[in-house]
Amino acid sequence: MTNSPMMLGVPEMDEDHLAIAALFARIATADDAELPALLVEAETATIEHFAREEALMAKHDVPILFCHIAQHKKLLAEFTEAHAELAAGRVDLLSDMLRRVIPDLILAHVASVDRVTSMWLTGVLGADDVAGLRLPEPSVAAG
Ligand SMILES: [Fe+2]
Repeated sequence: MTNSPMMLGVPEMDEDHLAIAALFARIATADDAELPALLVEAETATIEHFAREEALMAKHDVPILFCHIAQHKKLLAEFTEAHAELAAGRVDLLSDMLRRVIPDLILAHVASVDRVTSMWLTGVLGADDVAGLRLPEPSVAAG
């Protein structure tokens, strides 16, 4: 499991990511009738994880915090779309979102933005490595 793209070497992140991966593995084989409850469970778990991850990043002054939070917001919008599919009775589209779209996006997020974040948190990247990044000014990021 240590070679898994889900494992980043930051225990606070890894524990949450493994729990979320297990939840989506359960969703993959669940009956369609369970999907509405699983949608709420997955959304809640993701919202709570993002909040913990964002607090961890803020505590450690992660330089890509603004971009990272923006990605979290985009990912959470997928859950809003999944709710809309459920409300419209489009179970096939809800199923596709919960079994393919959202878990694929989460895996891509963990393997890219979360991985770079973990490199900062574990000291692989330092201030010199990010000095050339063009990051938003705090006043822009706050708005
Ligand atoms: Fe993240």
